[in-house]
Amino acid sequence: MRHLLSTADLSRDEAIRVLDVAEDMADVATREVRKLPTLRGITVVNLFYEDSTRTRISFEAAAKRLSADVINFAAKGSSVSKGESLKDTAQTLAAMGADGIVIRHPSSGAPRVLADSGWVEAGIVNAGDGTHEHPTQALLDAFTIRRRVHGTVSRGRALDGVEVMIVGDILHSRVARSNAWLLRTLGAHVTVVAPPTLVPVDVSRFGVDVRYDLDEALAEVSPDVVMMLRIQQERMNDAFFPNPREYARSWGLGAARFRSLPPSTLVMHPGPMNRGLEISDEAADSPRSTVREQVTNGVAVRMAVLYLTLAGDREDAS
Ligand code: NCD
Repeated sequence: MRHLLSTADLSRDEAIRVLDVAEDMADVATREVRKLPTLRGITVVNLFYEDSTRTRISFEAAAKRLSADVINFAAKGSSVSKGESLKDTAQTLAAMGADGIVIRHPSSGAPRVLADSGWVEAGIVNAGDGTHEHPTQALLDAFTIRRRVHGTVSRGRALDGVEVMIVGDILHSRVARSNAWLLRTLGAHVTVVAPPTLVPVDVSRFGVDVRYDLDEALAEVSPDVVMMLRIQQERMNDAFFPNPREYARSWGLGAARFRSLPPSTLVMHPGPMNRGLEISDEAADSPRSTVREQVTNGVAVRMAVLYLTLAGDREDAS
């Protein structure tokens, strides 16, 4: 794997391989010394043009656990705010010897531009581009689901027949897009549920079922996983729903709706959560919520992705 730009590029075998390598990486986290020499001498740049807490820290922890040198580059306070183009920034990073670039950018497609441009030789990992894709989030979600569904014998397995419901702001969500592709590749069945105003016009390309009434959908589909998405106010320049109370009542995972779910249904959220809007405390903090597990698993999954894109012919991870 040279770059990781989109989950749509991953075959079923490739996706399973990433999840399996992530299992090896998760094992490392349980050792006394939680570090591998795999990427010693490799420089990874975290190039973040958008705010991020967990994704940036997670990539940093992942690169460090593989012994890479890490440079964190936040667009705020850099020459980017003086108008430096992506090309000039990329060439600066290339001149400094970046082997891998983890990029988050507000424009959909920016990571692919970087990968196809020839400005840098580095392996490119998409850490979220606009409303387009967030492949490592989808991989960590798939990893989390696989572990919960198959337990300790999950290596080599996919998600065949697993019912996943993705609820909320689908329109602005790169997490929804990346998950739709990946979960389908792994054999899961995906339903998205949202108010009509928050469903993208090209949703038919996702290969998912679309529903608008959450209670009806929950009753009829009986999902194994309910993935709640954040209402992305920063990407909304219009009124997409009447008001927050109405949204929470119709599409949020409130306490009563949460209690009505089958007892084995998992509750996921990529974070950051708007508690009281798309998710209640009761749902977010319950034992069936994987919110914290997702964050933990994110490090192992990003270690796997960095290893597979940057280690080349180096020795095997395990
Ligand atoms: C997601 C993102 O940035 O796309 N968050 C994340 O990476 N943890 C989802 C979101 O912002 O709602």
